Amino acid sequence: MIQLDSITQTYKGPQGPVEALRDISLQVPRGSIAGIIGRSGAGKSSLVRTINLLNRPQSGRVWVDGKDLTALDAPELRTARQDIGMVFQHFNLLSSRTVFDNVALPLELQGMRRALIVQRVEPLLELVGLHGLRDRYPAQISGGQKQRVGIARALASNPKVLLSDEATSSLDPETTRSILALLREIRRELGLTIVLITHEMQVIKQVADTVAVLDAGRIVEQGATLQVFSQPAHEITRSLLDDVVPQQLPESVLERVRALLGKSSDTSASLLRLVFAGAESDRPLLSDVIRRFNVDVNVLHGQIDEVQGQPFGTLAVLARGAAAPLAEAIAHLRGAGVLVQEVSHA
Ligand SMILES: Nc1ncnc2c1ncn2[C@@H]1O[C@H](COP(=O)(O)OP(=O)(O)OP(=O)(O)O)[C@@H](O)[C@H]1O
Ligand SMILES: [Mg+2]
Repeated sequence: MIQLDSITQTYKGPQGPVEALRDISLQVPRGSIAGIIGRSGAGKSSLVRTINLLNRPQSGRVWVDGKDLTALDAPELRTARQDIGMVFQHFNLLSSRTVFDNVALPLELQGMRRALIVQRVEPLLELVGLHGLRDRYPAQISGGQKQRVGIARALASNPKVLLSDEATSSLDPETTRSILALLREIRRELGLTIVLITHEMQVIKQVADTVAVLDAGRIVEQGATLQVFSQPAHEITRSLLDDVVPQQLPESVLERVRALLGKSSDTSASLLRLVFAGAESDRPLLSDVIRRFNVDVNVLHGQIDEVQGQPFGTLAVLARGAAAPLAEAIAHLRGAGVLVQEVSHA
């Protein structure tokens, strides 16, 4: 649906050129929600703005719905852009227009007749849950409601693609959840393809099918969200993930481990971090290991969550037993698809 081929974008900065995007290639399948995450200045806004050519890249090609946008002339590009809606962090609503008239604006600009505009806007207000607020002004509604107006306005010209640049970054966590749920619903109801820019893994976790991690203008890691969450390969990814999936054990847990180890005279003990993702989370693997290999397992720390509708969990355990069965137990867990990291061994 969306394909970026070797996109390069350089700005003229006061201190010389700024390379905002370096050789970016990305594919977003139809009907999917693609998350793009990175720190401030990584190039996220530059990237999302190349998809509708609000920024024209120095080199590379942008394909949307089979069309090479970089090859279109101005009128063709205007038409093609009607297939691409965009929502912004600061909503960008016109304060002198009501909710209804903000959503109607892109249709007015296209020269659509009033009667048709009403037919188009009414169901959109219904879809985003704002029907009762149609005559209010932006100053009279909440931030979450303003973003619903922004989303309805982006959907007005019936686009195939929705681009979202930090759409939830000005909202509290609960309002963020409701807006992300709305995006999922829109994808389901309208079959839209969504590209979602964020600096929060929490947002990626809640909606994205795939994630691309951007750093200093490059994609340093990309893949299915569940895959990247369970086995982050790049340092930046791990540090961005830390808020949602702690990558290190808390010091309090390590202290408890030291206390436990101090008391014991075991031949062997291992502090393990286990990552379960998908189907294997439903199997009684730990009780299996305890029975079959005669090892003791203390659960010290953990969380179970959901990513892409699949169970996803991390668990810190202290496993104790004789050296050989302990090693076999670890191999058994790995064989069953659990990611096992040995944090320490005594
Ligand atoms: N118009 C511009 N002129 C010069 N440099 C720019 C321009 N716009 C962005 N940049 C620079 O390009 C780089 C990428 O900026 P961009 O806005 O894409 O980052 P971002 O990931 O969206 O950051 P944030 O999370 O803060 O929004 C930064 O170094 C920024 O300073
Ligand atoms: Mg930005």
